[in-house]
Amino acid sequence: MHMRSDAVVLFGVTGDLVSKKLFPALYELTRRDRLDVPVIGVARSPWDDQQLVTMARKSVTEANDEIDDETFDRLADNLSMISGNYADPATYERLAERLRDAERPVFYLAIPPAVFGSVVEGLAAVGLADRGRVIVEKPFGRDLESSRELDRTLGAAFAPERVFRIDHYLGKEAVEGLYAFRFANRLFEPLWNNEHIDNIQVTLAEGFGTQGRAGFYDTVGATRDVLQNHILQVVALIAMEAPASEDTVAFREAEAAVLRQIAPLSPQSTVRGQYAGYRDEPGVAPDSNTETFVATRLTVDSPRWAGVPFYLRTGKSLPGTATEVVVEFKQPQRSLIPAERGTATAANLLRFRLGRGDGITMSIQAKSPGAEVASRPVDLSVDFGAALGRRQEAYERLLDDAMDGQHLRFARAETIEQEWRIVEPILDLPTPVRSYEKGSWGPADADALAGGWHVPDLR
Ligand code: BG6
Repeated sequence: MHMRSDAVVLFGVTGDLVSKKLFPALYELTRRDRLDVPVIGVARSPWDDQQLVTMARKSVTEANDEIDDETFDRLADNLSMISGNYADPATYERLAERLRDAERPVFYLAIPPAVFGSVVEGLAAVGLADRGRVIVEKPFGRDLESSRELDRTLGAAFAPERVFRIDHYLGKEAVEGLYAFRFANRLFEPLWNNEHIDNIQVTLAEGFGTQGRAGFYDTVGATRDVLQNHILQVVALIAMEAPASEDTVAFREAEAAVLRQIAPLSPQSTVRGQYAGYRDEPGVAPDSNTETFVATRLTVDSPRWAGVPFYLRTGKSLPGTATEVVVEFKQPQRSLIPAERGTATAANLLRFRLGRGDGITMSIQAKSPGAEVASRPVDLSVDFGAALGRRQEAYERLLDDAMDGQHLRFARAETIEQEWRIVEPILDLPTPVRSYEKGSWGPADADALAGGWHVPDLR
């Protein structure tokens, strides 16, 4: 067992991620008695300890229907602030002084890529990289080359076992559930191949826009923001072969292995869109060609998946919010039972709902009522919240794991490189993005791409 971290340092503590995700996670960890160590916020803004506590209270209150004051006070007692310039050695000297009793601090880098190098070097200069762990947030670079550069910067300061690269989708119970579903059940694995599966669709739809992050988002776009990481992680879990054993190394190797078999995406089978009105948002360039929607077709060059297209799409300002995988099976080899009069034959679908209201819905054919022997699709459905109860949030699990030094739910350097290799041909395409109306399913061309997207189960 690795030794648990005895201090948490949040770089970029005034940012969006900390207030939306990390404070609520720290509160939950405190509530479960998993966190009672100094939590130090670092940022350029001139905040004092009191401002940090006020911010933490606001964010915990927003994330919970009700907050337990005693728990919050325990967290607040551990909070303190260091404000300083990331390029100034004095910032790190003050941090080292504050951490003099900590043997294994964990540093969470929720900072823009531009200051990443300064922070890593600053930590190394005061000796903190030798005894600390570092959690790195996405975006991990802008492309293959810059992600390698980031790795070199990190590697010069931190030993590999001290680095934790976050893709928070790996921390979601529902996403990890894909792996459990495949390898804990006998039922579907024999069908999990090109003999029985017609196509697979992955949708990460959001019913909202950039939510005040337009300035950041405009430099990133949907491909870098979620396709390169979250969606490809989901594809890897769906498509991977069984790991050689149950240990972390084998799991991460199996994940990297399937990514290696994915062909680079092609601009010809990619549709990029931008919702109407995006260019008017503060922080967005008036002639921005950044995509807020992307749909593409991916292939996995393996015997298991030859000929099975994976259709991927993500977008902001779509009709609603849902993250889903739909596995569409082939039709029966011999069709003895026609579809109910006036309907088309529907395929069996296995729908993994990975977002809010997560669960699985299986669409099967049942005999339709009446004298005619015909079939109609019906659903077998499970809601994991109802069946399994409350599960921990991704960031709570990931912070807990990193504090324990557990790498299972973090991405390997190679995984991230493979993901960049896959998306590289569709980054920064010169072709103009297609406009789409807010509340629609993206540009019309995206419909044609998949020859029939399944409508997500919006929650
Ligand atoms: C983040 C992206 O990584 O993932 C956001 O930066 C996106 O733009 C979010 O909204 C989606 O995550 P979740 O957990 O809400 O599905």
